Amino acid sequence: MRVLITGGSGYIGRRLAASLAADQHEVISLSRRPETAPPQSGVRFIKWDARTAEGDWVNELAGAQGIVNLAGASIGKGRWTRQRMAQILSSRLSATSAIVEAINRTPADRRPSVLVNASGIDYYGNRGDELVTEESEPGDSFLARVSQQWEAAARQAQPLGVRVVLLRTALVFGRGALAFRLLTLPFRVFAGGPLGDGRQWFTWIHVDDHIGLYRLALENPQVSGPVNAVAPDVRRQREVAREIGRVLHRPAVVPAPTPLLRLVLGAQSHLLLDGRHAVPARARAAGYAFRFAGLHEALEDTLRAR
Ligand SMILES: NC(=O)c1ccc[n+]([C@@H]2O[C@H](COP(=O)([O-])OP(=O)(O)OC[C@H]3O[C@@H](n4cnc5c(N)ncnc54)[C@H](OP(=O)(O)O)[C@@H]3O)[C@@H](O)[C@H]2O)c1
Repeated sequence: MRVLITGGSGYIGRRLAASLAADQHEVISLSRRPETAPPQSGVRFIKWDARTAEGDWVNELAGAQGIVNLAGASIGKGRWTRQRMAQILSSRLSATSAIVEAINRTPADRRPSVLVNASGIDYYGNRGDELVTEESEPGDSFLARVSQQWEAAARQAQPLGVRVVLLRTALVFGRGALAFRLLTLPFRVFAGGPLGDGRQWFTWIHVDDHIGLYRLALENPQVSGPVNAVAPDVRRQREVAREIGRVLHRPAVVPAPTPLLRLVLGAQSHLLLDGRHAVPARARAAGYAFRFAGLHEALEDTLRAR
């Protein structure tokens, strides 16, 4: 296969590119600054502006089997000012529209067969104890609205004859993953504990399974539409805190009270306080076997020194 990856220089992009290149697929990574991206074996970096259907990448798209869209301003980095929130949304919509426009300009018989678009489990917003599958209604938090608009932009490729898969991703457990580092750092300095009342359902996925689901989306023609990228062992946040403490041999008793998180983080506190009991119904139906289905094993693998 030839596969293009937008935002391929990022945390997920580099790991997906490595997985595809290891299987001798041709990988083209699209970056706004390819000259600054550390080189990667078997991966060709090409420039795009993430806004327009202009440049060499549009020619590379013709005859490619798939395109994976990961590009967008970081959600975890920096404070959510009004300007930052606008950028989080607009960067994703512009990049996705550029892809759809490039597909539109490609002759029908040379178009990629699949567009795999990143999305967030925050699509569902805050859901209490409800069991959430891909059929569930969307939520109304800021990130729920970003996810909905991002998915709607990607779905514009469907009438062009392209299979569209939307990976609604939970917090990724991986060494070096920004959100995971922020989640576990307080434990390392003996200040970890439940977030808010800790009753919210906490969804997560090990990075190996996240890459596994991107591969499933690219390679299994039966998979289309939304796919919850979440491990089956969903727990309440306070149990996750306890398990992180256990694996790191640290206490997990210092709570971060809801009012304090709201005061310090503003709208960003939804990232920590909103919960949903989402299940990987579509991944299961497609026969995906999780490598890290259990919380304890996933944390052991990610946190323990090697
Ligand atoms: N990791 C998670 O826990 C998680 C969970 C849910 C959803 N997601 C989504 O999955 C995608 C990939 O995640 P990731 O962790 O790999 O993200 P990441 O490390 O932040 O990488 C995203 C890439 O997007 C590009 N980018 C950054 N700002 C941009 C902008 N303003 N306009 C266009 N492109 C921009 C960058 O590439 P260049 O600078 O090279 O252009 C960057 O490498 C993201 O969109 C993220 O929101 C991730």
